[in-house]
Amino acid sequence: MSELIVALDVQTRAEAVEKVELLGDAVDFYKIGLELYTAEGPDVVKAVKDLGKKVFLDLKFHDIPRTVERSVRSGGKLGVDLMTIHAVGGKMMITAAREAAMEFGENRPKILAVTVLTSLDQNDLADIGVRDRLPAEQVMAMGQFAVANGADGLVSSPKEVRSLYETLPYGTLFVTPGVRPAGSAVGDQKRVATPAMAVGDGATHLVVGRPILAAADPVAAAKAIRAEMGL
Ligand code: C5P
Repeated sequence: MSELIVALDVQTRAEAVEKVELLGDAVDFYKIGLELYTAEGPDVVKAVKDLGKKVFLDLKFHDIPRTVERSVRSGGKLGVDLMTIHAVGGKMMITAAREAAMEFGENRPKILAVTVLTSLDQNDLADIGVRDRLPAEQVMAMGQFAVANGADGLVSSPKEVRSLYETLPYGTLFVTPGVRPAGSAVGDQKRVATPAMAVGDGATHLVVGRPILAAADPVAAAKAIRAEMGL
């Protein structure tokens, strides 16, 4: 069964709480990213958790293993459900994140790895020394590497999900932004899929922002997407 995560791409804790209250029972999982977290810090995570919701804390850690381990532990103490790291942080960093997460037992944060940022193309990869693989090949290689070393899942574009799903072990999480209901505005997203396509390709979690938060009726928009996901 897949889950819908709404990207809380707002500037303040007050706006975040307002959106979560507005959506009510229609949504029970929210993504807090760098923008909101840098503005409001752990208080905004606590506020969303206090409203009974799950939190995906998307801070994309990439640092020495000790720092990442301690940061994941801090996230675990806040009760977050999903957290992100960069797979390029290496084996020891991924393992350190995993070990810190495991301390929290059954309700531990799950660790998702980012493979290649979707903003990078082949030339960008060459600039940072990746010259022997196409972006799609690098996504696959880094995805296998991250999961083999303890990541619970991957963040990927909807276009990458199917090949990752077919290759990686059963139970791997696949979290996919860039989802647009059929016929809706694409905005600045380039590689989009409908909710039904993403779930059909193996996505376990869909991250949706503007199609819900900017809708005239956000509750109806969330319910329509859930229906498209078969929820
Ligand atoms: O509004 P929209 O549905 O495009 O929001 C998608 C969310 O997923 C945003 O928070 C965005 O930063 C995030 N995201 C993305 N594409 C990626 C990685 C993250 O859209 N490749």
